[in-house]
Amino acid sequence: PRITFIEPDGTVRTVDAERDESAMQAAKRNSVDGIIGECGGSCICATCHCHVDALWTDRVGPAGDIEADVLEFEATDVRPESRLACQIAITDALDGLKLRVVGRSR
Ligand code: FES
Repeated sequence: PRITFIEPDGTVRTVDAERDESAMQAAKRNSVDGIIGECGGSCICATCHCHVDALWTDRVGPAGDIEADVLEFEATDVRPESRLACQIAITDALDGLKLRVVGRSR
């Protein structure tokens, strides 16, 4: 599946993701700017914070309870469409997904 990231400076990066990896892993493997993934995908650091494109929020779904707490306490510019990229598992259904990178904000 192909995932498009919009980096913090506005650069658009489309990468090939593997099924079952997370959007954070796909971003790291392709050196997408702004995705740090400091906790290695353990849903702790919020350095993989993204805003999901409006066309994709339904399909990606909302943040889980723990994820929502981490966003609340660790991230800034949190919106209804905020997700931690490490908690988005890539499937074929997400081919074409667009994520705007917020990344580390504190
Ligand atoms: Fe740390 Fe996603 S990589 S919360």
